[in-house]
Amino acid sequence: MSINAEEISTLIKQQIENYEADMEVNDVGTVIEVGDGIARAHGLDNVMAGELVEFQNGVMGLAQNLEESNVGLVILGPFTDIKEGDEVRRTGRIMQVPVGEELLGRVVNPLGQAVDGLGNIETTKTRPIESPAPGVMDRKSVDEPLQTGIKAIDALVPIGRGQRELIIGDRQTGKTSVAIDAILNQHDQDMICIYVAIGQKESTVRGTVETLRRHGALDYTIVVTASASQPAPLLYLAPYAGVSMGEEFMHNGKHVLVVYDDLSKQASAYRELSLLLRRPPGREAFPGDVFYLHSRLLERAAKLSDEKGGGSLTALPFVETQAGDISAYIPTNVISITDGQIFLQSDLFFSGVRPAINPGLSVSRVGGSAQRKAMKKVAGTLRLDLASFRELEAFAQFGSDLDKATQAKLNRGARTVEVLKQGLHQPLSVEKQVMIIYALTKGYIDDIPTEEVTRFEREFHNWLDNNRRDLLDKIRDTGKLQDDNGEMGEAVEAFKKTFVVSE
Ligand SMILES: Nc1ncnc2c1ncn2[C@@H]1O[C@H](COP(=O)(O)OP(=O)(O)OP(=O)(O)O)[C@@H](O)[C@H]1O
Ligand SMILES: [Mg+2]
Repeated sequence: MSINAEEISTLIKQQIENYEADMEVNDVGTVIEVGDGIARAHGLDNVMAGELVEFQNGVMGLAQNLEESNVGLVILGPFTDIKEGDEVRRTGRIMQVPVGEELLGRVVNPLGQAVDGLGNIETTKTRPIESPAPGVMDRKSVDEPLQTGIKAIDALVPIGRGQRELIIGDRQTGKTSVAIDAILNQHDQDMICIYVAIGQKESTVRGTVETLRRHGALDYTIVVTASASQPAPLLYLAPYAGVSMGEEFMHNGKHVLVVYDDLSKQASAYRELSLLLRRPPGREAFPGDVFYLHSRLLERAAKLSDEKGGGSLTALPFVETQAGDISAYIPTNVISITDGQIFLQSDLFFSGVRPAINPGLSVSRVGGSAQRKAMKKVAGTLRLDLASFRELEAFAQFGSDLDKATQAKLNRGARTVEVLKQGLHQPLSVEKQVMIIYALTKGYIDDIPTEEVTRFEREFHNWLDNNRRDLLDKIRDTGKLQDDNGEMGEAVEAFKKTFVVSE
């Protein structure tokens, strides 16, 4: 057999052509299976974990399971148009979200696209949604308070800027309200807020946005929402998108508050996605890495060192419990990651104690060092006193012969509960909080009937506004207690003379 030169050159040409085609296979794949928000593709040999891919019809996907013969993709959008045999392309990008000031006042989905009907958001910057948490040397201990304006939190379980404080409780116990009120109170605190709504009803999110707008709080807030009607992958991504938007501000030296409402729903979405990707289920059918799901998110909360600009990102994750069971899988995980928890209890809520904070089971492990001096001094042992009052109260129901000291404790306890009650959307300034708690702990309220305490407090604050603005200003500006020369005591006494107990 003889081979002529022309044949050889065609063979070589063919080889070269095939070689190129082989290269293509690395970047373009074929869908071999699709359904329920998940697809498998063959041929995306070089795809990175977490890389964005684009389906033939423009829908984006996220590479999750990199297996030997195929790649498991989650579909970020409608999946009904995607068919077997469709092309899917690499983008070479890890998933990013738009970030920057342009997002303030807007409602966006986890991809950063506007969903509030106010037009596109023109941003110039993006950030990857997964990024490493600040390292040990870049951080500083939490030393500035984050004022929520809620007496029961600022006095009993203070939160510091850069802290992670879990808010946990059954359904309908006022969890979301705590977050909203904390956001409303940031209007003069130089804070940027990000509210991440995960798996909530669209109407609820709408209500929240309206409340924020009505109180002028939307101007410094970004709402990221993946509602219950969205596919699971978007619910899973929402908190990461939110924290990335926050990080941009933090690294520019600003203070940010991020609320994740709530992580139980995110964990359920992640479970759904993992089971569909055929990852082995573990406890409560959650995948093995559900701890990492939350720890890598919450580790991104930080107080940066002065060299890094001193910015902070405070995280308020929410977890919903079933029948008050805080020892279930997700609650215990998140409790162990955070710097404390605020436990909202339904029986307190229904008995009218709102916010329904259980003083015995709520703690803040770092906030105390960030609390204002004045507040720390007046509220020192308030939480423990209140917890012991709750125990004493249960015990006192059995007997009537109580000694004087016990009786006094019960009296004080009942008034403490009254003082810590607070209505919706009425955040209170630190100085007023300090004054009323001062009056309480110094015994000025002991002789006011319990049912009059709320009116006493309201009139006291009005009186202070009208008569002792100077004292309030002093407490606010110095952060210190003004009781060395008895100024605070004098003020309470002067007000008490004007207060008439109704018959
Ligand atoms: N401090 C308060 N004073 C009076 N009403 C309150 C207070 N906090 C919450 N509520 C009311 O209780 C109801 C439930 O509150 P909220 O929606 O905050 O609870 P949630 O725990 O977030 O509920 P869900 O489980 O549905 O998310 C709301 O109607 C709210 O108006
Ligand atoms: Mg809620």
